[in-house]
Amino acid sequence: MNILVCGGAGYIGSHMVKMLTASGHIVTIFDNLSTGHREAVKWGKLVVGDLLDEAALRQLFAENSFDAVMHFSAKSLVGESVAQPAMYYKNNVIGTFNLLEAMRAADVKRFVFSSSAATFGNPVADRIDENHPQAPINPYGETKLMVEHMLRDYAAAYGLSSVSLRYFNAAGADPSGEIGEAHDPETHLIPNILKAALDPHKTLKVFGQDYPTPDGTCVRDYIHINDLCQAHLLALGYMDNNDGAFGFNLGNGQGFSIFEINNAAECVTGGEIQYESCDRRPGDPPILVADATLAKKELKWRPQYVDIIEILRTAWDWHRKQLF
Ligand code: UFG
Repeated sequence: MNILVCGGAGYIGSHMVKMLTASGHIVTIFDNLSTGHREAVKWGKLVVGDLLDEAALRQLFAENSFDAVMHFSAKSLVGESVAQPAMYYKNNVIGTFNLLEAMRAADVKRFVFSSSAATFGNPVADRIDENHPQAPINPYGETKLMVEHMLRDYAAAYGLSSVSLRYFNAAGADPSGEIGEAHDPETHLIPNILKAALDPHKTLKVFGQDYPTPDGTCVRDYIHINDLCQAHLLALGYMDNNDGAFGFNLGNGQGFSIFEINNAAECVTGGEIQYESCDRRPGDPPILVADATLAKKELKWRPQYVDIIEILRTAWDWHRKQLF
């Protein structure tokens, strides 16, 4: 298929582009390079542009005949979204609206959307399945949920099929070491732990130790990047036989606290990682753990990285290489 990957220069998008290309698809990447990296575009054709630029989108769809669109372009930091909600609504909601309108004009009918566990807000169950209420507690989650609602309505009115994949915490790197997670500034837990492991002058900031969790730190469900990408491939195929707007949760179903991840990282890196206690970060729910039974049943998704040590090892292999 001829596939447009919006945000294909970013962490998740670049892994997706690699997997799509390896599966025989032709890929065009549309990315404004605001958080993505030109160096991460090693496969496919890059078009530098912004989803807020409707003329650029019109041109992109006029010059190409896409069979499907995958959308990874979004502002995605919970804390930043609390401080700067306008930027989030503009980029994530208006940007996606522009993209869907360009698809509608060009009669492109398949869409895979990067949604988020952040659409659920504070969990009311130990594991979050698709029936869990969606009640975001931060603007980031709100923007993702708004798009899910748009997709439901576009499917009903215009026959645009979509699969929204609600990621829990994406982690790790492609085992080839060619691409990995690189944000600037880095706000994610695992890269920050690994940076503290690499640099004796750095300490990990632990945001909040008074959460209602076993050790007081936030618990998250870490899912390997290539397992996430595999689910996207399956989602594309799912739309061959299923019309409508679908949503699936993607996680390993196991939660790890910040201290547990830090301990596991010490095993992988072989050294002690220093930390300092800091205040809670605004917008963080205490626990987010997925129930991915539906994705396994419907998409036939089979995650390969179920061991947190293995996930951390792929991240470590990549981070270590960045020093040299
Ligand atoms: N944390 C620290 N120190 C750090 C970085 C993070 O203590 O240096 C804490 C956070 O406060 C949080 C946990 O580690 O409690 C995980 O934080 P991340 O920033 O790694 O991930 P988030 O859970 O905030 O968010 C990620 C994605 C979101 C997505 C969410 C869904 O960035 O896009 O997972 O679970 F919505």
